[in-house]
Amino acid sequence: MSLIRLVYASQSRLVEANRQVELDRIIESARRLNARHEITGFLLATTGAFAQVLEGESATVAETYGRIVADPRHAEVRLLAESPIDQRGFPQWSMGLAERDETTMFIFGLYGVTPEDDLPQHAADDLVDLAGELSRQRA
Ligand SMILES: Cc1cc2nc3c(=O)[nH]c(=O)nc-3n(C[C@H](O)[C@H](O)[C@H](O)COP(=O)(O)O)c2cc1C
Repeated sequence: MSLIRLVYASQSRLVEANRQVELDRIIESARRLNARHEITGFLLATTGAFAQVLEGESATVAETYGRIVADPRHAEVRLLAESPIDQRGFPQWSMGLAERDETTMFIFGLYGVTPEDDLPQHAADDLVDLAGELSRQRA
């Protein structure tokens, strides 16, 4: 088994009126499918963008990423990093989620993520560190 970690960022196509409902749907299907495929990771969401860390066996990560890229709920999906890992960084998360809101805004800001400098503008390693920080808060 070769474990890999994939990081991408994208522009959100969710509209404000049903953003929360759509986000709930995304995370529900992500958790269900990822549990089946032994994929773990973390999803960062702002009003304008997404960034996601996917960890797992290389073939299943590639297959999952293929489905995610084709999803019309986001656009301009850009692969930021794909590399082998020795162990998972998010072992307890079939998919963690953190939205940038009043309570998390400060931490997103510490990593430079603001509406003007949104998730796709950041390097993969910084996004993984931010996701790690937020996952520890939620554990
Ligand atoms: C931002 C975002 C993150 C997603 N994350 C995952 C994920 O981690 N795992 C997954 O299987 N599907 C994820 N999805 C959902 C897939 O795009 C897709 O809807 C799902 O895999 C079901 O595929 P199907 O509609 O072809 O059955 C995500 C979608 C979006 C928009």
